[in-house]
Amino acid sequence: MNLKSIIIAGKEIFPLVEGGKGVNVSTGLTSGRWANCGGAGTFSGVNPDFKDENGKLTAPISFKGKNRFERQIELIKYGIKGCLDQAKIAHEESNGNGLVFMNVLWEQGGSQELLKGVLEKAKGTIKAISCGAGMPFKLADICSENNVFYNPIVSSVRAFQLLWKRSYSRFKDWLGAVIYEDPWVAGGHNGLSNSDNPNQPEKPMQRLIEIRKFMNEVGLKSVPIIIAGGIWWLSEWIDYLDNEEIGPVGFQFGTRPMVTVESPLADTVKQKLLNTEKGDVKLQRFSPTGLYSSAIRNEFLMELEDQLNRQIRFEEEQNFSTGFDVGVELTSTGKTVYINKADKEKLESFIKKGYSKVMKTPDDTLLFVSENRYKTIMEDMKNCVGCLSACMFSGWAQKEGLVIKPDPRYFCIQKGLQGISHTDDVKNNWLFAGQIVHRFKLDPFYKNGTFIPTVKQLFERILTGY
Ligand SMILES: Cc1cc2nc3c(=O)[nH]c(=O)nc-3n(C[C@H](O)[C@H](O)[C@H](O)COP(=O)(O)O)c2cc1C
Ligand code: SF4
Repeated sequence: MNLKSIIIAGKEIFPLVEGGKGVNVSTGLTSGRWANCGGAGTFSGVNPDFKDENGKLTAPISFKGKNRFERQIELIKYGIKGCLDQAKIAHEESNGNGLVFMNVLWEQGGSQELLKGVLEKAKGTIKAISCGAGMPFKLADICSENNVFYNPIVSSVRAFQLLWKRSYSRFKDWLGAVIYEDPWVAGGHNGLSNSDNPNQPEKPMQRLIEIRKFMNEVGLKSVPIIIAGGIWWLSEWIDYLDNEEIGPVGFQFGTRPMVTVESPLADTVKQKLLNTEKGDVKLQRFSPTGLYSSAIRNEFLMELEDQLNRQIRFEEEQNFSTGFDVGVELTSTGKTVYINKADKEKLESFIKKGYSKVMKTPDDTLLFVSENRYKTIMEDMKNCVGCLSACMFSGWAQKEGLVIKPDPRYFCIQKGLQGISHTDDVKNNWLFAGQIVHRFKLDPFYKNGTFIPTVKQLFERILTGY
């Protein structure tokens, strides 16, 4: 295929990027090998693995802190160590010459401290920071101070305009690329805004034209846009190449590089990815960040979906005139609240089926869960390490004064993602993947799920257009 090279962070490369994937899915090894092929590889800066002084892998980390604040401080310290370890591996794997990016989720707990801590010490190894999930106004500031490029990840021109006007226009020279992530189809968290209809996907072309138009207006004509989300065969993207309306472009792959020899995922996870059907990935809102996200519908996700059907509205006070007069005891406090007598049968059927534990949600509903699920929810909330800046599940918020009510309809994403990258349990963990994941099964390259390529083989295959 006739692919035009692009220049990012001062380096001319093939326009192919491995997207950052946390926790520990895109690593120093995967990104370094990708960069060594002549593209740009992004390792994840979201709680990456590191080795202790004896060279032993420390995952899962045991935390000593007595409360969430203390544990978050530990998490940031370990995060910096992990990022530095992964940066070194990526640098070496790319023969010291490849284009290595680090990915940070702006809403991850302590993202700014982490970024500063890493960039201070990682001189020369990380060429740019790719960052989305939130509005990273300070990203440009921190990166330029450390002579490192920044690649904001956006899903609309509006988001980029806001970032540009409030901050990036002052740090123009350090803007490496703008990553446009399709909010309807990309794996991981999705940046759908209030004006986007989750059920009405829009093709990237028009949105890319809008972004390029704005970029041209503010003097960013030569800065590439990296398209992310739903990319499998480049031969299907011919219209986006050499297209003056969208200018220089590259392509970011997230889901496809999850199945390589170098990918740290267990064989069971790779097999799950290789055998997924169309429709197995749906946009949903279970991530405790509050954002939409795309993950494979496994047993765990189905349980979260199912528990939404086991809710009953309640009131704090008994009220005979409105019918809210049936008392129900909350499991954790023993306090009695009241449901409407019209819901009494529902209540009895939940209990009969074994969903006897009763939890409050912030929407004035009671959630009925099994004994096992109740124990897990309580334990996960208790063990929270503050991996996010604000968590809808545990109610943790790193910003003083911000109060979030815990909500058992979400889950601990830290645990679910660590579980998927460090165990072979694909049923009870959280497996992010793009809508396009079913293409593994259809693509002859994978020989009906029996062939797993190396990063180099995958990269070379992508260059053919297939
Ligand atoms: C397992 C997985 C984890 C991801 N984690 C992150 C992340 O931590 N930060 C981020 O900015 N993007 C993340 N992404 C998004 C990817 O970097 C990439 O942009 C996206 O997957 C591209 O769409 P595709 O999945 O259709 O290839 C993740 C994607 C996947 C599949
Ligand atoms: S409960 Fe889990 S997902 Fe939420 S902040 Fe704590 S560690 Fe992170």
